Amino acid sequence: MDATQVVPRHLTAIARPDLSKPVALALADGIIAPSLTVFDYGCGRGDDVTRLKVLGYEAHGWDPGHCPDSRIRSADVVNLGYVVNVIEDPAERAWVLRTAWSLARHVLVVAARPDWEARTVAGKRHGDGILTNRGTFQKFFRQEELQAWLQSELKASFVAAAPGIFYVFRDESRAQSLLASRVTRRPAPIHCPDIRRAVYETHREEMDALRGFVETRGRLPELRELPGTTAQLIASFSSIKRAAAVLRQVIGAEEWDHRLESARERARQDLLVYLAFAAFSGRPKAADLPKEVALDVKALFGSYRAACDQADQLLHCVADQQALNATCRQSRVGKLTAEALYVHTSGLDLLSPLLRIYEACARVLTGTVTEANIVKLSRAAPKVSYLTYPDFDRNPHPALATSLHVDLNLLRVRYVDFRESANPPILHRKETFVPTDHPSHAKFAYLTRQEERAGLLRDSASIGTRERWQSRLDELGYRLHGHRVIQKK
Ligand SMILES: C[S@@+](CC[C@H](N)C(=O)[O-])C[C@H]1O[C@@H](n2cnc3c(N)ncnc32)[C@H](O)[C@@H]1O
Repeated sequence: MDATQVVPRHLTAIARPDLSKPVALALADGIIAPSLTVFDYGCGRGDDVTRLKVLGYEAHGWDPGHCPDSRIRSADVVNLGYVVNVIEDPAERAWVLRTAWSLARHVLVVAARPDWEARTVAGKRHGDGILTNRGTFQKFFRQEELQAWLQSELKASFVAAAPGIFYVFRDESRAQSLLASRVTRRPAPIHCPDIRRAVYETHREEMDALRGFVETRGRLPELRELPGTTAQLIASFSSIKRAAAVLRQVIGAEEWDHRLESARERARQDLLVYLAFAAFSGRPKAADLPKEVALDVKALFGSYRAACDQADQLLHCVADQQALNATCRQSRVGKLTAEALYVHTSGLDLLSPLLRIYEACARVLTGTVTEANIVKLSRAAPKVSYLTYPDFDRNPHPALATSLHVDLNLLRVRYVDFRESANPPILHRKETFVPTDHPSHAKFAYLTRQEERAGLLRDSASIGTRERWQSRLDELGYRLHGHRVIQKK
């Protein structure tokens, strides 16, 4: 059958109750920003365009099936959301991709359906995809396949935003800024001593902006790196150094120096993780570094060469499974088993730089797996898994819903769905996965102590699934009420 004649592509457009995932991610990542225009190429029913307009963005869309009379136009950000996967002709598919790219002044957001969704769609094989029972076509992309296709068609810098979603950048340094911001941590709040509180309070907002900068980047800013009003205030101190000296007085010299040193160390680690991460997409030349990153490099490493050398040493260690294993054993965050180190996503920043790079290597392939809350770093082979436990906080023994496994040797992503399983794997000892300052750490630890006392956690290898755990509870005569163990009457 000549599918190109009959495939009703417009039927693939669904009514969206919320923003589509690629558009929501682009907003969260600052790709779509207030001053930028957006064009949704293949916008379907136009729900993303409508929502973006409501949010105050200048957005337009075109779709051959739903809004054929709109104008196809250039924009700062072009979204090509789940369009390439509905086109059955590979040559036309590539043409659409290139056309969308030609319209994008800054960034093209491309989303396509990932291969693991194929099993949810019934139909028969057609070309490189399937013809569904409704007569529409779907091509499901492996993550690495989508990446290779973008690379060969567009020959531009791109970043994996999430599984099945990529940002393609016109300007290399924008890609680098995004990668750098992904590994930067936020500063902790400050408690300022009483005597100088008045001075501090008078200019609190501006001084906090300066402090926030220093505690995030581990260095003093240049004037142009601060927001307008802060820059004016700092200028009135006659130099940033003077303003920082006031801050040091206000906060206390010892505390300030300690914070600055920790911030420097964190910022150095963040930069090393970024430079190692950037090596995968081709590290930029020194002259092409985003301005703020170039200033970080100079202040924290002296030179770009020195920073890259250190990042390369770490990358070298990522290829050394023994070094990874040893670092997993020493980790001050996460649950260590014979097989792997498991870390709740709230604790990823606390991993050593080597383990952060290990995890970042997987993210080069997958992008951010937004739903995942536990990351498994294998000790035996270079494999990282993103595990999703939707009710991790509420359920005392949450069940695994989905897992995305990244094999760094084979550069392959595999997905397993447990949502239909009657007997999924479950978690115990939740406090071991989260950092000690996690808001529920004490509650989780309390439950574990009760369960230990009741003998419920003996021989933990045999209680790893929902059914086995229920049998253990029944056998010993207990039930759970929230995070409390109750003895059955
Ligand atoms: C799955 S829908 C996605 C719609 C929208 N982007 C969203 O995420 O809700 C795919 C859309 O691609 C459109 N489409 C099909 N062929 C196209 C082409 N050659 N150029 C642009 N859009 C096309 C279809 O009309 C359909 O509305």
